[in-house]
Amino acid sequence: MNSHMHKTTVLPADKSGAARAAQLLDDGEVVALPSETVYGLAARCDREQGLEKIFKVKNRPADNPLILHCDGTSMALRYAKNPDERVKKLADAFWPGPLTIVVKRNDNVPDSVTAGQDTVALRVPKNEIFRDVITLCGVPIAAPSANISTSPSPTDAGEVLRQLDGKIPLILDGGSCAVGVESTIVLLDEVVSILRPGDISRLAIEKVLRINTVDKKKSTPIAPGMKYRHYAPKCEVLLYCGDNFADFIKSCKGEFGVVCFEEEQEDIVAKECIIIGRANDEKGQQRRLFKILNSLDAHDVDRWYIHTDKRFEAVYNRLFKAAQGKIFQG
Ligand code: TXA
Ligand code: MG
Repeated sequence: MNSHMHKTTVLPADKSGAARAAQLLDDGEVVALPSETVYGLAARCDREQGLEKIFKVKNRPADNPLILHCDGTSMALRYAKNPDERVKKLADAFWPGPLTIVVKRNDNVPDSVTAGQDTVALRVPKNEIFRDVITLCGVPIAAPSANISTSPSPTDAGEVLRQLDGKIPLILDGGSCAVGVESTIVLLDEVVSILRPGDISRLAIEKVLRINTVDKKKSTPIAPGMKYRHYAPKCEVLLYCGDNFADFIKSCKGEFGVVCFEEEQEDIVAKECIIIGRANDEKGQQRRLFKILNSLDAHDVDRWYIHTDKRFEAVYNRLFKAAQGKIFQG
């Protein structure tokens, strides 16, 4: 076996699994860990070897910075430069949970984590085993989503294994992720902006900070990772926004699959039909989204029409990228 080959072991996400993960991380290895959002590919932030492996295993562009996962607010604050009261307000309200806060970094942050930026992305994940692993390490864990770059993120251990089998030594299996889309990323600059929508809404953040957020403008830095092709299965994905999906589908020619809301399923005629959730069930749609995107290529269909709702920003944002902007407006 050369250094790029591993027998990938899957262990339950429990105390003994956490101990094994911490040991491998200490040795400069990478391991996959469950979080409430998606599975992460973890390395200790003070192990250059591990950080390098993250980029190699995922085939991730080197200019895309990593989120530092901390076991609590006090660890996170050790990496921020002069954190103001906005960080503490957001941390009190949403940590541990699916919010990543981008702030000015200090010298404690290893350069290879931030890809040369003067900011750092900080998050305290909700999954207790993930936090146990961080506590055992005593330093933050850098962890992008545990997918190959451009593929949809994994929301269960089986999907991590499918994408990374033979490339990493260990996956901790903590079942299906409760949220199912990656964390909301909020940038605290002179103004506050949302760099990536997630389960924690813009409105919830505005309520806690008692200020309005701004839309990211061309002049403000966006999360570098958001500029790449993303979340894309190999098959063609097309979106439909509107109220007449079943009629729209009747007008579509050829062989295709459909991802629809539960209420409209009986009116859909297609080779394959997958339900993403009830029309108003934003959380359910979030939870199933990546499972569905990761499953599309296994069907014998080259083209998929997916019904989505622009109000559900986190779902819509990922689907827009998966479809590379191809949308029908009903
Ligand atoms: O829910 C999540 O956030 C998951 C779990 C594993 O915690 N992690 C995750 O990491 O989604 P990743 O690397 O797949 O996405 C992180 C995004 C990237 O688009 C990256 O460019 C952005 O965060 N990012 C990281 N550091 C940043 C910084 N200093 N400024 C702006 N964006 C940053
Ligand atoms: Mg990712």
